Amino acid sequence: MAKAIDIGTSFIVGAELKNGKEVFTIERDAFFSMPKEDFAEEMLHDAGAKYLLKGDQIYVVGEDALRYCMITGKQENYRRPMKKGVLNPGEEEAVPLLERLVEGIIGKPAFPGEVIAATIPAPPLETDMDITFHKIVIERFLKKLGYDVRILNEALAIIYAENPVVDDSMGKAPFSGIGISFGAGMTNLVVAWRAKKLFEISIARGGDWIDESVSRVRNVPVGKVTHEKEKRLDLTKVNPRDSIAVGLEIYHEELVKFALRQFQAHFKASQSVVESPMEVVLAGGTALVPGFLELFNRCLSEVGAPVPVGKVRLAKDPLRAVAKGSLVAALSMEKKKLATKEGPGAPRADGTKRVAVSAGNGEPALPEVDVEVKG
Ligand SMILES: Nc1ncnc2c1ncn2[C@@H]1O[C@H](COP(=O)(O)OP(=O)(O)OP(=O)(O)O)[C@@H](O)[C@H]1O
Ligand SMILES: [Mg+2]
Repeated sequence: MAKAIDIGTSFIVGAELKNGKEVFTIERDAFFSMPKEDFAEEMLHDAGAKYLLKGDQIYVVGEDALRYCMITGKQENYRRPMKKGVLNPGEEEAVPLLERLVEGIIGKPAFPGEVIAATIPAPPLETDMDITFHKIVIERFLKKLGYDVRILNEALAIIYAENPVVDDSMGKAPFSGIGISFGAGMTNLVVAWRAKKLFEISIARGGDWIDESVSRVRNVPVGKVTHEKEKRLDLTKVNPRDSIAVGLEIYHEELVKFALRQFQAHFKASQSVVESPMEVVLAGGTALVPGFLELFNRCLSEVGAPVPVGKVRLAKDPLRAVAKGSLVAALSMEKKKLATKEGPGAPRADGTKRVAVSAGNGEPALPEVDVEVKG
C-alpha cells in the first residue's frame, strides 16, 4: 500500500495508510549506550525498552534512550545517529542503530517491491557538507529490506502535504508555493510550481543550532535550553528578565533571517522568475513554538524575499507534515506503478525519472511528482 519515512536529526516519522487512514509512528532519533552486564539486559527486557546488543555493549534506542539518559544523568552515553540533517560523521554506530530504529518503525514491506518514499535534505550550502553518503546509505538499507525506494526532498514533501495554490490570471496552479522545514539539524526550503521543484536550498542550522547557541552565551546546559524552549517558550511574550527566553528569541530570529537571506542570494543566482504571489507553508518542530509565525512574518518584512509572497501559514501538523507529504507521493507512485505494471516513464539523462500521477485517498491530484526513481 506504500509507506513513507522522514528520517530527521531529532525524530524519525513513519507514515502509512491503515483502513484508509493515515497512521504516523514517531520515534526519537537517539540511543543510549551502556556496558552489557548480567542484569542489564534482563532489566531492559522487563521494562519493555527497545534495545540492541552489539559486542560488549547494550544500546537502548529511541525515546527510551532519553529516559535512560535522564535517569542516569550520563549525558556522554546519550548519542545521536544524525547531526545537521545527515548521518553523524563522528558516530561510528550511526548506521546500524539508525537501521534498527527505521526498521522498528516501518517494518518489512507488506509485499516485495512495496513503494517507500524517504526524504533527504537538499544539498547544503555549507561546502564542507555532503548528502551523497547519507542518501546512498538510506537507499541501500531500505532496498535491502525489500522496498522500492523513492527519494524526495524534505521541503517538497511539505508542498505535497499542504497543497499551496497559486491563483492568478491564468487560473489556479495546485502544489505551487514555498515550503520551509525548520527542523533540528537543518532548515530546508523549496520553491515549487505544479509539484515540481523550481529551487531548493538547505542550511545546516535548525533547532539544535538555536539550543547550542543559547547554551553557549548563557552558560547553561543544552538540555535545559531545549527543555525551556519546548515546554515554556512563547515568542509573543518573552520576559526581558528571563535570560534563556531572551536568548532563544534572539537565535530564532537569527535563524529565520539567515534562511531568508540565503534564499534571497541563491534564488537570484538561479535566474528563475516567479511573478505571481506564492503562499508559504512552514513546518518542522522548530515552527511549533508559539509566536513562530509572527516572528517569521516580521523577519520577512525586514529581509524580504526574492519572489512575490502571498499568505504565510503553518502546516496543519508541523511535526508530521514531511512524512504526510511523502506518503502522498508514495501512494501516487505506487498507484501509477500498478497502473502501468512496468513502472514509471522513461529515465532522464541523470538516471531519475519524472512521472505524472493522480493521487488517491481524497488528496488533490499531483500534476507531477518530483522524486527520484533509481534502477
Ligand atoms: N513544542 C516545541 N516547541 C519548540 N521547539 C520544538 C517543539 N517540539 C520540537 N521542537 C524542536 O523541533 C526540532 C525537531 O524538529 P523536527 O522533528 O522537524 O526535526 P528533524 O526532522 O528531526 O530534523 P532535520 O529535519 O533538521 O533533520 C528540535 O530542535 C526540537 O527541539
Ligand atoms: Mg526534518
